[in-house]
Amino acid sequence: MTTPRPRILSGMRPTGPLHLGHLVGALSNWVELQQQYDCFFMVADWHALMSEYERPGEMAQRVEQMVSDWIAGGVDPKRSVIFRQSDVPEHLELYMVLSILTPLGWVERVPTYKEQLREVTGRDLATYGFLGYPVLQAADILLYKANAVPVGEDQIPHLELTREIVRRFKFLYNTDIFPEPKPLLTEEARLLGLDGRKMSKSYDNYIGLSEDPESLRKKAQKMFTDPKRIKMTDAGHPEECNVCHYWQVFAPNEAPAVWEECRTSKRGCTKNKQELAERLVTLTEPFRKNRSQIQSGAVRKILDEGAERARAIARETIREVRQAVGMS
Ligand code: TRP
Repeated sequence: MTTPRPRILSGMRPTGPLHLGHLVGALSNWVELQQQYDCFFMVADWHALMSEYERPGEMAQRVEQMVSDWIAGGVDPKRSVIFRQSDVPEHLELYMVLSILTPLGWVERVPTYKEQLREVTGRDLATYGFLGYPVLQAADILLYKANAVPVGEDQIPHLELTREIVRRFKFLYNTDIFPEPKPLLTEEARLLGLDGRKMSKSYDNYIGLSEDPESLRKKAQKMFTDPKRIKMTDAGHPEECNVCHYWQVFAPNEAPAVWEECRTSKRGCTKNKQELAERLVTLTEPFRKNRSQIQSGAVRKILDEGAERARAIARETIREVRQAVGMS
């Protein structure tokens, strides 16, 4: 018998088409992790609803699109369990139990919560449910007893809360049913959008993973460059230029030469953007090809099978949880 591989769970909210930021921030990492871990990749549709409840739109469609993007990017439904959170009602049951024992102060001081209440405009996030966002996330992770969770830096406080909840559960019910999940920090630096802000659908400053080549070239031409370089004869400062940063991320072998030419005024920003665009077109080519071959029926089948595999585990955990809290 082989020893079981450690398990990871990660999730993404289905809020729109995936872009290059998702690729470097999460997707390529997920694809790699499939080699060493038993992987659960979840579409966090309840989490999406928490912030989009006023204008939810077509959730089923967005779920399917995101899963198609995952698969086109290399997430393999044969190796990994791909499922939709709301297909597994046990998430809500565990969420309920965890919210009973989570002290109010713990959720009130989560930095992402305070930040979103402050920063997000045009949506009312001051709801009872939104306060519980990280508790639902803890339930997602603990339901599958994940050993590790691949996340970006911004999610670390949610993972820390999850670990605190595990310790509290253990203290209250004297049971070890949940391992403390470790964060697997994604190493890649955050990719900035075309205008230098965080890449995001809501800022309309992104390059989609299935962007067609023409539109990709146009978007690349719009990128902000080195603000200190006005004329081509000025020396460039590649370390302060978003386009040069993209070269480092997407063409690391060529980047040193590009940076040098930029510093010594041998390369202008327009050419730099044109050539970057060609690299990006080539890099996303297999993605576009795969994506165009994925059919909606196939995605639905993957999600149905994923839900079934996820539920088998979730049901067992809930049985243990009910027993631990005296509700069996
Ligand atoms: N909060 C995560 C994000 O916005 C999405 C998410 C929901 C998640 N449940 C999760 C991530 C469980 C990791 C594990 O990116």
